[in-house]
Amino acid sequence: MNFHVCTLFPEMIEQGCQTSILGRASKNGLIQIETTNIRDFSTNKHMKVDDYPYGGGAGMVMQAEPVYAACEYAKQKLGEKTRVIYLTPQGNVFHQKMAEDFAKEESLIFLCGHYEGIDERVLEEVVTDYVSIGDYVLTGGELPAMVMIDAIARLVPGVLNNDVSADIESFHDNLLEYPQYTRPPVWHDKEVPEVLLSGHHARIEEWRYQCSLERTAKWRPDLLEKHKSK
Ligand code: ADE
Repeated sequence: MNFHVCTLFPEMIEQGCQTSILGRASKNGLIQIETTNIRDFSTNKHMKVDDYPYGGGAGMVMQAEPVYAACEYAKQKLGEKTRVIYLTPQGNVFHQKMAEDFAKEESLIFLCGHYEGIDERVLEEVVTDYVSIGDYVLTGGELPAMVMIDAIARLVPGVLNNDVSADIESFHDNLLEYPQYTRPPVWHDKEVPEVLLSGHHARIEEWRYQCSLERTAKWRPDLLEKHKSK
């Protein structure tokens, strides 16, 4: 799967995505993460990409043309029909189902804004999806793009060592994950629940399901409602 990020800070994406599981997946050729520097498409002799907002107000606005040219360049590489995701606190709030939907695509383009936003006219022309990663405001779209890439890439077959684990973790079926334990069997006087040492798979599964229900009821009752109504 191809991820292409249009940004003023390509090094942020490159550094953030070259370690751990994403780094390994890139090296193995399961995913490709590329960046385009929007500044490279500046039409200004000082390589400026922002200007004052019409109508006044604080901050600067990213200009339409360099953003347009960067996105068109990415589309030329990945295909004219590639979805372009603009990261913005005004977008639809990202969740697991959205990650699953995006993971079906062969390629995705992420557009990261900075300053007070991007000229609306270019957004109207290039953006297919407006996505927020939560109700708070960050300084730019790079961290949100990385959050989305991480959540989507782990669903690509082969990216996780253990192919089943993408499916059974938190939010599958709107339940939080059950608690996990590893050796030693006693730590700080706390014992691993006996059932997990029993080797009885049906009992273990039932115990885990009950834990998931209890946790979800306690920490995310909103999710439990969704689980029940399925
Ligand atoms: N850009 C700034 N804040 C953001 C957020 N919460 N989600 C997505 N993009 C953003």
